[in-house]
Amino acid sequence: MKIAMIHGQNHVGSTCRIGRLLAEKIGGEVTEFFLPRDFGEFCVGCATCFMKDETKCPHHEKLLPFIKAMDEADVIILTSPVYVYHATGSMKTFLDHFGYRWMVHRPRACMFTKQAVCISTAAGAGMKSTNKDMADSLFFWGIPRIYKLGMAVAAIRFDQITEKKRATIEKKTTVLASKIRRNHGRVKPGVKTKAFFSIMRFLHKKEINPADRVYWEAQGWLGRKRPWK
Ligand SMILES: Cc1cc2nc3c(=O)[nH]c(=O)nc-3n(C[C@H](O)[C@H](O)[C@H](O)COP(=O)(O)O)c2cc1C
Repeated sequence: MKIAMIHGQNHVGSTCRIGRLLAEKIGGEVTEFFLPRDFGEFCVGCATCFMKDETKCPHHEKLLPFIKAMDEADVIILTSPVYVYHATGSMKTFLDHFGYRWMVHRPRACMFTKQAVCISTAAGAGMKSTNKDMADSLFFWGIPRIYKLGMAVAAIRFDQITEKKRATIEKKTTVLASKIRRNHGRVKPGVKTKAFFSIMRFLHKKEINPADRVYWEAQGWLGRKRPWK
């Protein structure tokens, strides 16, 4: 299995370690990125990606390794420590660059067969909103199966995590990894994704944005074709 793992932080702390533990238990080839080390640009708000072509984004070249790894992956793992109840700024600015891939614009067909995981850790609270920050993008990219793993580690550093909590982390990652392995090659979009796709299809037929319509037409999605089997 191919795994693309993107960390919303530069350091190997609790969140990264949980991500690595999970990836190891899933097994396979892992391509790992750290933010902002591997990508730290802010979206400039030109909207060229939406209105014209994502390859005209001033940061497109820097995004290419991420695009390759994510498109080729069977599983995408996004990790972020909770920073003031949300994903890190680095993760947010990274995800901003993929707005053009939302179903409302030009989603990639390959996304509709993948599994994804959002991992966050907090000292106490905020994992739900942090995982949602990341899961929103994954859902609107079309990924049909998204798992969320949030841990209140009650620690600032990994070595401060109690034995009891480490045992919970071990258990949760084992259960999740076997679920992901079991579902490999079997995931299909659910009602929510299909309904959203249908609404977008209806809008693109009306040509709300010419660049998007051309894309949907080329994919065959304005006809009978769908990005899932
Ligand atoms: C800037 C900053 C903001 C934080 N905000 C929160 C927060 O809102 N809630 C919380 O419980 N912990 C918060 N924390 C603590 C971290 O989320 C927590 O220690 C996390 O496990 C660190 O993960 P890491 O080891 O991967 O960096 C914050 C830490 C930092 C540095």
